[in-house]
Amino acid sequence: MGSEDNNLKSVRNSTFQQRKWCGIIHEYGDFISVEGEKINIEPVTLLEGNTPLIESVCLVKELKDMGFSGKIYFKYEGLNPTSSFKDRGMTVAITRAKQIGARATICASTGNTSASAAAYSARANLPVFVVVPEKNVATGKIVQAVAHGARIIRIKGNFDDALKLVRKISDDFGLFIVNSINPWRIEGQKTAAFEVCDALGFAPDYHFLPVGNAGNIYAYWLGYKQYKAIGRINETPKMFGFQAEGAAPIVRGYPIENPETIASAIRIGNPANWEKAELAVKESDGLIDMVSDEEIISVYRFMGEKEGIFCEPAPCAGIAGLIKMVKNKKIKMKDIVVVCTLTGHGLKDPEAALNFIKTKQFFVEPKFNEIKKIIEEEIKKSKEKDLEMELQRS
Ligand code: F0G
Repeated sequence: MGSEDNNLKSVRNSTFQQRKWCGIIHEYGDFISVEGEKINIEPVTLLEGNTPLIESVCLVKELKDMGFSGKIYFKYEGLNPTSSFKDRGMTVAITRAKQIGARATICASTGNTSASAAAYSARANLPVFVVVPEKNVATGKIVQAVAHGARIIRIKGNFDDALKLVRKISDDFGLFIVNSINPWRIEGQKTAAFEVCDALGFAPDYHFLPVGNAGNIYAYWLGYKQYKAIGRINETPKMFGFQAEGAAPIVRGYPIENPETIASAIRIGNPANWEKAELAVKESDGLIDMVSDEEIISVYRFMGEKEGIFCEPAPCAGIAGLIKMVKNKKIKMKDIVVVCTLTGHGLKDPEAALNFIKTKQFFVEPKFNEIKKIIEEEIKKSKEKDLEMELQRS
């Protein structure tokens, strides 16, 4: 091999070795413990975490028109191995299940927890039972549980019914429960807050996210507090969580028997981590509020069409919440840094895309002129739209 080839090879190797990511336990294991116990076996990992923090280009412009100045970042958790934030908690929970010699794992889920539990349990060679509502689980999430060989139990009931059953079954049969009532899940999920601080070099002023079973908002808060305690950051952010109006027990102050929202991931009427979420907002001087399905859908379209980021509807509740707060001037408006967590990838829920995003598909004969006509008309239309937007702004 010539010396040029050798040089090229060494450059490639050094570039690769500079940032070898081995998953969140490898990266943050020193900070992960429950009641003094630590993970002490080889992690069950799919190299989760290390997700991008993407700066907003369009939302920030829209909010500028309302008097906001600063930066908005999206923590894109849809780029985890099973396309949701659940993988952070799941690597820890399933590794712990291995460590204590569990015989099988079980969870209740609106879809993402079951997808993640299925993947990590498969990797750990543990049987996994997922209990999910018969209706209102996005197709992509069920497909994942199928792909990873989970035993899927579908009940004529909602997530809250499923979790109640799973708590009892796991106690009676000694199965390892991997819902966020398991503290190891929360320990894993808090690493997203570490990554945000590591990427920015400081903590944001505000952190916005959707709230369902309410574990994630609490997990982030634990992460921020821990980073402050060890001096990695000077300040912690205010935590702002958003529920969907039809599934907003924490905002309303009582459980909702039949929760309803198009954001099926957060269709939850009696969150298991209710008090913990309230603690997080109280300690951080934040808020839990709600947004309508219409607001969620509007953000859902905006994210895909303007920011170029496809996320499922649930995380759009957090962003809709940010817009609501800015509109009502409920947060500081000048020179602030905001992070919104995009908890799950858009491909999880293809029905939502087909139902709520106007399709621009044209079914035509395979003829040059037909296609040319469409292109000319569409370019004209988008130019007119841009002009209209400019006029509205000025
Ligand atoms: N976003 C997505 C995409 C989710 O899947 C969930 C929860 C949340 C937000 C809310 O997070 O429960 O910690 O407040 N999904 C659970 C599941 C309930 O079963 O997949 P949370």
